[in-house]
Amino acid sequence: MGLFFLALFLMVVSATSADEAAFIGVNIGTSLSDMPDPTQVVALLKAQQIRHVRLYDTDRAMLLALANTGIHVIVTVPNDQLLAIGQSNATAANWVSRNILPHVPATNITAISVGSEVLTTLPNAAPILISAMNFIHSALVASNLDSRIKVSTPHSSSIILDSFPPSQAFFNRSWDPVMVPLLKFLQSTNSFFMLNVYPYYDYMQANGAIPLDYALFRPLLPTKEAVDLNTLLHYNNVFDAIVDAAYFAMSYLNFTNVPITVTESGWPSKGDSSERDATLENANTYNSNLIRHVLNNTGTPKHPGIAVSTYIYELYNEDLRSGPISEKNWGLFDANGVPVYILHLTGSGTVLANDTTNRTYCVAREGADKKMLQAALDWACGPGRVDCSPLLQGQTCYEPDNVFAHASYAFDAYYLRMAMGDGTCNFNGVATITTTDPSHGSCIFPGSTSSLPSPSLHRPTPRYLVAVPNLSALKISIYAL
Ligand SMILES: *[C@@H]1O[C@H](CO)[C@@H](O)[C@H](O)[C@H]1NC(C)=O
Ligand SMILES: *[C@@H]1O[C@H](CO)[C@@H](O)[C@H](O)[C@H]1NC(C)=O
Ligand SMILES: *[C@@H]1O[C@H](CO)[C@@H](O)[C@H](O)[C@H]1NC(C)=O
Ligand SMILES: *[C@@H]1O[C@H](CO)[C@@H](O)[C@H](O)[C@H]1NC(C)=O
Ligand SMILES: *[C@@H]1O[C@H](CO)[C@@H](O)[C@H](O)[C@H]1NC(C)=O
Ligand SMILES: *[C@@H]1O[C@H](CO)[C@@H](O)[C@H](O)[C@H]1NC(C)=O
Ligand SMILES: *[C@@H]1O[C@H](CO)[C@@H](O)[C@H](O)[C@H]1NC(C)=O
Ligand SMILES: *[C@@H]1O[C@H](CO)[C@@H](O)[C@H](O)[C@H]1NC(C)=O
Repeated sequence: MGLFFLALFLMVVSATSADEAAFIGVNIGTSLSDMPDPTQVVALLKAQQIRHVRLYDTDRAMLLALANTGIHVIVTVPNDQLLAIGQSNATAANWVSRNILPHVPATNITAISVGSEVLTTLPNAAPILISAMNFIHSALVASNLDSRIKVSTPHSSSIILDSFPPSQAFFNRSWDPVMVPLLKFLQSTNSFFMLNVYPYYDYMQANGAIPLDYALFRPLLPTKEAVDLNTLLHYNNVFDAIVDAAYFAMSYLNFTNVPITVTESGWPSKGDSSERDATLENANTYNSNLIRHVLNNTGTPKHPGIAVSTYIYELYNEDLRSGPISEKNWGLFDANGVPVYILHLTGSGTVLANDTTNRTYCVAREGADKKMLQAALDWACGPGRVDCSPLLQGQTCYEPDNVFAHASYAFDAYYLRMAMGDGTCNFNGVATITTTDPSHGSCIFPGSTSSLPSPSLHRPTPRYLVAVPNLSALKISIYAL
């Protein structure tokens, strides 16, 4: 019986989502003192090949700039308009005719997010949330747009209680009067559950109970993986555990065929003194691994291979946001469209950020044990197949003649050859990633920007690079890692 239901479940979920490959989108917050104008935003999206965005409103100029670009757009009913819309069918219809109708089909609006984390940020509006969604949906039906534009509402994962083990998760029962009709609505309109997933906050609030590696999708020893003893499913990252907790919480209410889209996920690149893990490296690691994980169509342990498309929070650093320093530093780009960090994805810049500006380097960790460094150096120049000839006496990187400098050169050459893949800068813990170019004097590290004859798109020393010309090739290199 259980198996039968599982099979049925998989069939239904597959029908709704597995025929589409998972995608990565980005959220576009606009609290910037020098917010780029909509044409600049769209130029950045195009240059970075971003095909899915979520807006926090229905800004007319932005929607016009997105017209005829092929970019898919989720728009939002801001929380402050929710009460009016949820109380009046006419107001909802009016909202749709003012904010949606003028833009379709030129602008490919694929969903309307009705409010944002309403249950947790605006609980007073909870009683009218479902009617707001119904009214908006009716207006779309009246314009024959309901099959093209889905209606949903994003939730904070904090409404899921007891989220580990995921099989025991349930929605905070105080919200049952909202969740049950909400899920019915999503099911009957073929819509999807919008979930915001922030392993950063779970990690911060866990006071050490969640290992950083587990939050960042870094490889874990099998003994460190979290096992759900009810299902025997193994969890090796927080993201999957939260998404599965949401699947289980829905099935606890007997909804088993509503797909999930993650409307927000990310990691801040800077924080104040109480946010020591909000760093460039961690943000880069989280978002790079998240992108790989999603695009690989890995799914979750509960539903392997079922697409969990995800919108990264967020496109720009929003300097005008209040709160701790991290609040202003979730972006992939600054206001000028310069990447805050270069994702460790490829050598090629086909996804989100390109490699024509800064890159990361792999060097010997300060204070690392010399014997371990020597062993790692020997490995890199031997089985690791790094060309270590520049380290020979008389060659460009011989000086300074110490194991720290030589290992740095070899580690970086190896890391670059492995397309800077996650886990390829480790060497039993004696290596570390840096954004500072370690080249010195005549010793130019492979792939160093200073080895470029001039700022240009030409690649340095191609023999070290695994060229990754496009996304399908990227997937192949992921499998190889
Ligand atoms: C790389 O990024 C820069 C700045 O974001 C942009 O001007 C340039 O067009 C991009 N190049 C490619 C090949 O995407
Ligand atoms: C909008 O996106 C959907 C989903 O990818 C696609 O099927 C449709 O053709 C697009 N519409 C337009 C007008 O581009
Ligand atoms: C709301 O308006 C739509 C048209 O926009 C109509 O089809 C629907 O019946 C109305 N619903 C209610 C509850 O008045
Ligand atoms: C459940 O939701 C209610 C209403 O928002 C809230 O007061 C309560 O603290 C929540 N319970 C937990 C355990 O978070
Ligand atoms: C879910 O379905 C089971 C079996 O039909 C039933 O016993 C249970 O009450 C239902 N739960 C909810 C929340 O409707
Ligand atoms: C990609 O998906 C396959 C299964 O489809 C899985 O075995 C592999 O671990 C995944 N790789 C990553 C990087 O998620
Ligand atoms: C890029 O490199 C320059 C010079 O090394 C440095 O000042 C800047 O912070 C770096 N930017 C990023 C995004 O790493
Ligand atoms: C992308 O890479 C795959 C595998 O290497 C190759 O078959 C395909 O032709 C490439 N596509 C483009 C557009 O270069």
